Amino acid sequence: MKKTIAVARRLPQAVLDQLSQFGEVVVAPTDAGLDKHGLVALMRDADAALVTGLDAIGAEVISGCPKLRLVCNIGVGYDNIDLAAASARGITVTNTPGAMDDAVADLVFGLILGVARRLHQADAFVRGGQWTPANPSAFGLGLDVSRKTLGIVGFGRIGKVIARRALGFEMRTLYCNSTRVDPGIEAALGATQVDMDTLLAQSDYVVVQVPYTPETHHLIGAEQLARMRKSAVLIHAGRGGVVDDAALAAALKAGTIAAAGLDCVENEPHVNPALLGCPNVLFTPHIGSATAATRMNMVMMALKNMAVGLQGGTPPNSVTARTASPP
Ligand code: 8YV
Repeated sequence: MKKTIAVARRLPQAVLDQLSQFGEVVVAPTDAGLDKHGLVALMRDADAALVTGLDAIGAEVISGCPKLRLVCNIGVGYDNIDLAAASARGITVTNTPGAMDDAVADLVFGLILGVARRLHQADAFVRGGQWTPANPSAFGLGLDVSRKTLGIVGFGRIGKVIARRALGFEMRTLYCNSTRVDPGIEAALGATQVDMDTLLAQSDYVVVQVPYTPETHHLIGAEQLARMRKSAVLIHAGRGGVVDDAALAAALKAGTIAAAGLDCVENEPHVNPALLGCPNVLFTPHIGSATAATRMNMVMMALKNMAVGLQGGTPPNSVTARTASPP
């Protein structure tokens, strides 16, 4: 019987054409994102769904879609999907690991350099007509990056790609991770594993790159910020909720740390007003994976998962297969 595939976002026609080889494709009526009622209306009769990290596939959505057997997420993080509810229903969930590592690492370095050299303030200064021969750096002098210490919290694929870029800046790299990585990889990346307190105390730039889980909720809060150097910069391009934004705003205002570069915040796209009021924050609106080629790679990876899953196989990037507990 012909399968029905729901697509939660409007994707390029070429992608939809590929999907239609596997079944009848139904696409969200809007690109603005659907709430849970809209998602259920779209996916009610679907066997499979192609969704993004912006689509909240919670327990209510899952229970409203009785035929659903496969959810392919265009994104590496899958905290938008209630994995327990999906697993309980035998629904396979997939993600797109690896497709955005370079793009996210590039953005992290963009934020490091942007914050360090005050690029957002420099741009506003020029556009505001404040540039005169006498005051080209009146908005403040910047910070150095070369040969400084970089602390990476979470040394998975993306963390390692960030460390590789740090070699070009001759930085000293420290990392915190639940496990130690292969000593050969450590040596190649010039990275040393330390505990969190050491990393926070010694790093000039602290980069947070862990998935959002109950265990990582507010991993960086007031206590951790207080352990950082006054001159340090926090960079976060992982997932909102890992950093306690209210505590970060307070630390930035008090001068506990110098500045921050944030690609993600809690309750996106609503930014904590206290954070918005901090001139020493450079914001980007969750664009870590937002290059044309990367987004296409992510979609292609999701399509591959979809194709295998719809044919009854275990998709290459099944997160439910990885996390399913033995019977
Ligand atoms: C996407 C991401 O922007 O992959 C992730 O986990 O956060 C980003 O690449 C997001 O998933 C929306 O699709």
